[in-house]
Amino acid sequence: MTNSSFVLFLHISAILMLCISFSSAAVEEDRKTYIAYMGSLPGGDYIPTSHHFSLLQALLKQSSVENYLIRSYTRSFNGFAAKLTEEEAKKLASFKGVVSVFPNQVYHLQTTRSWDFMGFNQTAKRNATAESNVIIGVIDSGIWPESDSFSDEGFGPPPKKWKGSCNGGQNFTCNNKLIGARVYTTDSARDTLGHGSHTASTAAGNHIQNASFYGLAEGTARGGVPSARIAAYKVCDDKVCTSENVLAAFDDAIADGVDLLTASLGATVATELYYESVAIGSFHASEKGILVMQSAGNSGPLPQSVGSVTPWLLSVAASTTDRFFIDKVVLGNGKTLTGLSVNSFSLNGTKVPLVYGLQASTVCNESSARSCISGCLNRSLVKNKIVLCDDMDGLDEAHDAGALGSILPAVSTRSLQQTSFLNVSLVVPLPALALSTDDFDSLKSYQNSTKQAIAELLKSETIEDSSAPVVAKFSSRGPNILLPDILKPDISAPGVDILAAFSPVAPPSTTATDERRVKYNIISGTSMSCPHVAAVAAYVKTFHPDWSPSAIKSALMTTAFPMDPSKNPDADFSYGSGHVNPVKAINPGLVYDNVEGDNVRLLCSSGYSEEKIRLISGTNSSCPKNSTKTLPRDFNYPTLTTLVKAGDSFTVSFQRTVTNVGVATSTYNATISSNFDLEVGVIPQVLSFKTLWEKKSFNVTVKGKALGEMSMASASLTWSDGIHNVRSPIVIHTYLAATRVV
Ligand SMILES: *[C@@H]1O[C@H](CO)[C@@H](O)[C@H](O)[C@H]1NC(C)=O
Ligand SMILES: *[C@@H]1O[C@H](CO)[C@@H](O)[C@H](O)[C@H]1NC(C)=O
Ligand SMILES: *[C@@H]1O[C@H](CO)[C@@H](O)[C@H](O)[C@H]1NC(C)=O
Ligand SMILES: *[C@@H]1O[C@H](CO)[C@@H](O)[C@H](O)[C@H]1NC(C)=O
Ligand SMILES: *[C@@H]1O[C@H](CO)[C@@H](O)[C@H](O)[C@H]1NC(C)=O
Ligand SMILES: *[C@@H]1O[C@H](CO)[C@@H](O)[C@H](O)[C@H]1NC(C)=O
Ligand SMILES: *[C@@H]1O[C@H](CO)[C@@H](O)[C@H](O)[C@H]1NC(C)=O
Ligand SMILES: *[C@@H]1O[C@H](CO)[C@@H](O)[C@H](O)[C@H]1NC(C)=O
Ligand SMILES: *[C@@H]1O[C@H](CO)[C@@H](O)[C@H](O)[C@H]1NC(C)=O
Ligand SMILES: *[C@@H]1O[C@H](CO)[C@@H](O)[C@H](O)[C@H]1NC(C)=O
Ligand SMILES: *[C@@H]1O[C@H](CO)[C@@H](O)[C@H](O)[C@H]1NC(C)=O
Ligand SMILES: *[C@@H]1O[C@H](CO)[C@@H](O)[C@H](O)[C@H]1NC(C)=O
Repeated sequence: MTNSSFVLFLHISAILMLCISFSSAAVEEDRKTYIAYMGSLPGGDYIPTSHHFSLLQALLKQSSVENYLIRSYTRSFNGFAAKLTEEEAKKLASFKGVVSVFPNQVYHLQTTRSWDFMGFNQTAKRNATAESNVIIGVIDSGIWPESDSFSDEGFGPPPKKWKGSCNGGQNFTCNNKLIGARVYTTDSARDTLGHGSHTASTAAGNHIQNASFYGLAEGTARGGVPSARIAAYKVCDDKVCTSENVLAAFDDAIADGVDLLTASLGATVATELYYESVAIGSFHASEKGILVMQSAGNSGPLPQSVGSVTPWLLSVAASTTDRFFIDKVVLGNGKTLTGLSVNSFSLNGTKVPLVYGLQASTVCNESSARSCISGCLNRSLVKNKIVLCDDMDGLDEAHDAGALGSILPAVSTRSLQQTSFLNVSLVVPLPALALSTDDFDSLKSYQNSTKQAIAELLKSETIEDSSAPVVAKFSSRGPNILLPDILKPDISAPGVDILAAFSPVAPPSTTATDERRVKYNIISGTSMSCPHVAAVAAYVKTFHPDWSPSAIKSALMTTAFPMDPSKNPDADFSYGSGHVNPVKAINPGLVYDNVEGDNVRLLCSSGYSEEKIRLISGTNSSCPKNSTKTLPRDFNYPTLTTLVKAGDSFTVSFQRTVTNVGVATSTYNATISSNFDLEVGVIPQVLSFKTLWEKKSFNVTVKGKALGEMSMASASLTWSDGIHNVRSPIVIHTYLAATRVV
């Protein structure tokens, strides 16, 4: 509630700054940016911008509407953004040709050992020629063009198919690696946050030897497809990414000729498909052969927290790698406590006094002082000391008050979303670490009971985490609240403590006053896992340039490493089809390919109005009649999921079609595995192929006993010819869907 009004405030203030020329201030203050989505571009001599003007003229009943039109989407699909009142927005939604009108929304950015961890080492089979022909579009906070990760040494000219340009603003130069840039914010495409440089380099950064964060995680930083080209689309300024900008980036990127798009951002909550820029943009991208990856979101671990719910894109969860950062504190009594942080500082073997926030505050009340709330700590009382604060949020204050170090419990009074980040080692702006509450309490009692309590904070070290990969707590969970028969997230990839390129003007920690500047930084989030999957998709594309987005997506999903449900209590809802496996993904054997019209049939079966579907798809295809109507769960997806009624036993069936992309003459057998009491039948049980690209259909029937409310049962189906294992999770659940706006 407070969050959304804050967002609203940002919008209104931004708009007011731009629109100083208005006369009737009262009405103008009520205007906000709305996006009118109008589906596919009609062919012929249709001129989208003049249509947009005439719609606005009719709506506002005046001829000069230039001040109200913010931007037109005209290159890859049809629509515009305009400043409207709520009334006008409602009215516009009823105009002929308009699919939807929705308010501009704030999207959130959701951060290399990771490739080796996946078995994708530097000796992996590659086709450098084909790889250098792949263009990855990165929709993010811009890019730092001078980073070594984006140097074009050894690169030839951009691929001929490239139709984009370098419009990065002043003092922004592209090269043969970073072949394009566009900016939708008021500044330049230069990345001042670090996020966009990090994601772009994770996907396609050069091999950089000896990269590290102050010696931590030292090694070769590299993107998954280092020979691929990058086009950066900057949709976020320092703080805010808006859906209006995101839609514009899709409009351009599709027309520019990118091969794949990666978007490590999104709405925090699932939003109806044609009221959401990533869903709209990725629909048109997919229809033009471009696969889109999106981060699942950082709103875990509650069920149905996944914000990326769109069926035609790949939604990526974040998991750990086998490298884990820990930090230690050695107490004066010789005891050592281990906690979490990426601490680049060393106290050089000196133990310093400990002081509790309560004793170091002269101006705040007791509870604020204990937590080191902003402004509470007294500089002279924390100088040359390690301050103990009862809340992680005290870290910034400890830094700003000039403490030598800080120790905090992994507890935060901030939002739930941030709380789930407490289990991750984050970069700290001063020597600091987060302890478990038990360890923190024992530290506090040492401090309180010892006359000269002292301690030393050590620089972080990396340890091997044999439990990896485990889905991070912050990673958003399924099921899909919008389309409960489409499993989300789709796949998991490394997203915890990832080292990659950074902006040399941004603080490496989340503390704004951290004055350090780095070229490489360690960050965590589904934002970081998303470009890993984009790179693998690009890698698959280098071997199969003619594969459709759904075929590539299927290849990634059916070859994913199965993850361990005993380590991931939310099982398939946390990792989807499993952990991405680059080496296997190029040779999946069979793919669940979508044929033309499948996306439209899914919209039809999901209850969207036929008139709107025609506008969206730009075809006259109407929805199938009732009798032949397919069900959403029959959408040819690489996972099989459906919602059933709680408390009733069930029998559900799924129809699927696979395409042979492995060996021309091959025979696949179906195998089912399940830890649940599910009876799964596959008809037929054997699929025999004679040629490549041959298609075979089969049905899967799942019977089970009644499930409780908000619960799930899962199994998996694997088609195997002895070489390829084509695995699909089967998930039956009872989580109700949100009310739809179709
Ligand atoms: C590289 O990966 C391949 C395939 O995963 C593996 O067979 C090989 O042993 C690895 N090489 C090294 C040096 O780790
Ligand atoms: C590499 O890719 C190029 C372009 O797609 C193709 O012509 C060539 O045959 C491939 N080389 C190998 C060794 O597969
Ligand atoms: C361009 O940007 C780079 C990186 O911030 C900076 O070093 C350089 O001075 C800038 N040049 C101009 C002319 O502003
Ligand atoms: C990397 O750093 C190590 C020592 O820190 C040095 O010995 C080595 O030469 C460096 N390698 C490169 C390629 O810079
Ligand atoms: C520890 O030594 C390093 C390198 O000499 C120095 O930069 C740093 O300031 C020292 N830290 C403290 C707390 O004295
Ligand atoms: C900070 O603490 C010192 C020592 O107790 C005290 O003299 C000083 O007034 C305090 N400063 C503030 C701003 O409270
Ligand atoms: C302490 O101060 C904070 C901040 O001024 C305030 O929000 C809080 O209610 C106070 N707590 C008590 C127990 O007085
Ligand atoms: C944090 O993660 C570790 C390792 O993955 C796990 O053992 C621990 O239980 C987690 N703690 C919390 C509070 O989730
Ligand atoms: C220190 O310990 C004493 C005795 O156990 C207790 O009364 C007091 O509240 C403690 N002080 C702090 C700051 O926790
Ligand atoms: C269409 O199908 C639905 C559900 O299968 C059914 O309830 C409805 O009566 C059917 N309508 C017509 C016109 O056949
Ligand atoms: C699958 O089930 C559908 C609906 O019952 C049926 O029309 C179709 O023939 C079945 N396909 C196979 C391969 O058995
Ligand atoms: C498939 O099943 C047949 C009959 O059960 C068996 O002979 C064959 O070895 C199986 N093939 C594979 C690849 O498992």
